[in-house]
Amino acid sequence: MKTNILSILSVVLLSALVIGCGSGSKNEVLYMVTEATFPPYEFRQGDDIVGIEVDIVKEIAKELGRPLKMEDMKFDSVIPCVQSGKADFAASGITVTEDRKKNVDFSIPFVKTGLVIVCRKDAPVANAADLKGKTIGVQSSSTSDIYVTQNICEPDRYENAPLAVQALRAKRVDAVVCDQDPAYAMAKNDDSIMILPELLTEEEYAIAFKKGSPLVEAANKVIERMKADGSLEASLKKWRAEMPSAD
Ligand code: ARG
Repeated sequence: MKTNILSILSVVLLSALVIGCGSGSKNEVLYMVTEATFPPYEFRQGDDIVGIEVDIVKEIAKELGRPLKMEDMKFDSVIPCVQSGKADFAASGITVTEDRKKNVDFSIPFVKTGLVIVCRKDAPVANAADLKGKTIGVQSSSTSDIYVTQNICEPDRYENAPLAVQALRAKRVDAVVCDQDPAYAMAKNDDSIMILPELLTEEEYAIAFKKGSPLVEAANKVIERMKADGSLEASLKKWRAEMPSAD
């Protein structure tokens, strides 16, 4: 009898342990990292971080029944933080690249976009070929940084894209290469700068997870659902219309 009770107890304890693993037990905080100067995907509105990706990750947290914590940090640190397992995932307008795939697992992509050239109207450039011999500002470690370094020249690296655009306004750089949507936010209400219509690259954004993370499945399910029911399109539309003129 005594052994029976003991074996029942150990089965109960073991199942509790097993249930507690996997994609994190309910109530365990989901820890997301980002760099929130990237409208309309993630940006600050008062004390809050809002945007398209925030809408997506809130749905993922709901799907998993777990509370969400978001931390704003330098873009350089975002992927390493996920890679080391310190954070559960990064939602930061991250472009899927073959190199990054070696270090993190990506969800399915949620948007197609690309890089553009921003220049001053008083010193216009016509196209990518015109950038030769010019000083170009980029966000450090971004795909703009990679593109300009590989195809044009050594760029001037800034902590974020708005700081690169500030340098453009102050005439410290001749052009900025950055992601298309944030470029529109920065050029909004600023008559001194313009965006060239040509897309330099085609890129897709996705959420990045630690290699082997069981959370990818839930994220994919949510993104699929948001694509199918129109809520992703609605979020893109809403935040593209509401994005602030970054300065
Ligand atoms: N899409 C570019 C990349 O993956 C830039 C992303 C910058 N994101 C941000 N939240 N500042 O490199």
